[in-house]
Amino acid sequence: MTLAVTYLPEAPAHDPEIDAINEEAFGPGRFTRAAYKIREGGPHDRALSFVAMHEGIVIASVRMTWIAADKGRALLLGPLAVRPAFKNMGIGRKLVAMAIDASRKAGAPSVVLVGDEPYYGPLGFKKIPTGQMTMPRPVDPNRLLAVELRPGAVATLTGDVQHAWLVDGMPAHVEETGCAPAPASVA
Ligand SMILES: CC(C)(COP(=O)(O)OP(=O)(O)OC[C@H]1O[C@@H](n2cnc3c(N)ncnc32)[C@H](O)[C@@H]1OP(=O)(O)O)[C@@H](O)C(=O)NCCC(=O)NCCS
Repeated sequence: MTLAVTYLPEAPAHDPEIDAINEEAFGPGRFTRAAYKIREGGPHDRALSFVAMHEGIVIASVRMTWIAADKGRALLLGPLAVRPAFKNMGIGRKLVAMAIDASRKAGAPSVVLVGDEPYYGPLGFKKIPTGQMTMPRPVDPNRLLAVELRPGAVATLTGDVQHAWLVDGMPAHVEETGCAPAPASVA
């Protein structure tokens, strides 16, 4: 039997369930991760972040955050988490594919993450050359991965990585409308 799963762009109403999923998947240790430190610098982009729903309940989530490293710009993928009862059904892979597709359509040059190469490699991610990019906390260089959406984009990501808003300021469309996504409460 195929499970009925719906995939939606993230909305503020999903926040409590996403927080619970990330707590369950990563525990309190998530706050000490390098990627979390970057995400403290500003909100994630809800339009590029997705949830998987089953019977009205959020069962998985992926969030995307704009980052800057010197002249390079990219989206940072994560956290990605699937509720234990729904693992190994292809939901994680589907969310990653949706997030990459949305990033491409949004004009992102590349998508970066800290994660397991055996999982993300088949989804198109390759190791970023060791020492090219510096995360704000130590990471295993073998886990710093990227998908290039524009030729040569990954090579422009050099030096210290931070939330893009800290470098570029808040995007104009957010200032005009006041519609900034809520700060990432868990990431
Ligand atoms: C990792 C995670 C997101 C995968 O989501 P999922 O929906 O269960 O995975 P999918 O159904 O898309 O893919 C399942 C396949 O990936 C493999 N896989 C899962 N986690 C893996 C990992 N860390 N490394 C390598 N392979 C992995 C499974 O063994 C399975 O392989 P198979 O297709 O050969 O049987 C999910 O297990 C999870 O939420 N884990 C806890 C949080 C986490 O670690 N997030 C990722 C941070 S880098």
